[in-house]
Amino acid sequence: MKPEEITKNVFDMIGKQWMLVSATKDGKTNAMTASWGGLGVMWGKNVAFVFIRESRYTKEFVDASDKMILSFFSEDYRKMLGYMGTVSGRTEDKIEKAGLTLTENNTFEQAKLTMVCKKLFASEMKAEDFVSNEELDKWYKDGDMHTMYVVEIEDVLM
Ligand SMILES: Cc1cc2nc3c(=O)[nH]c(=O)nc-3n(C[C@H](O)[C@H](O)[C@H](O)COP(=O)(O)O)c2cc1C
Repeated sequence: MKPEEITKNVFDMIGKQWMLVSATKDGKTNAMTASWGGLGVMWGKNVAFVFIRESRYTKEFVDASDKMILSFFSEDYRKMLGYMGTVSGRTEDKIEKAGLTLTENNTFEQAKLTMVCKKLFASEMKAEDFVSNEELDKWYKDGDMHTMYVVEIEDVLM
């Protein structure tokens, strides 16, 4: 399937249903839930925009890899997404505990839609770049800034 064939509403897909962001480093995969981000076009490519805070263990995997996997699940997996979004892979083997199965391509067998992505751009947000302090004060009081990743959607698997 091509990215252009995705007919789902992106606000619902990412913002309401959430996704898993995962990457693999030295043969080990870590994943976390994300509900911020977007899909669009950049540099003439179909891309996703993903935002990961400095504190996330997943960030270490994303930074070490040139690939990123975005996985979308049916409503049955909401509890799993809650778990993957509250516990860190630093303290538990989340993938195992969540009952998720990794394929040989490091995608999840249970996902209903998977985007295999290639990292193109990564930039950490800086306090001085915010136009007003509203979002800064609300979301970054502890200084745990997001890094924005722009990733090319290379493959969409159903
Ligand atoms: C619904 C939901 C959405 C989330 N969205 C994001 C996000 O977009 N970016 C982010 O950095 N963390 C987000 N989180 C938090 C991480 O998923 C959470 O901190 C997770 O435990 C990190 O796991 P890790 O340390 O194994 O990477 C979200 C959590 C939930 C429950």
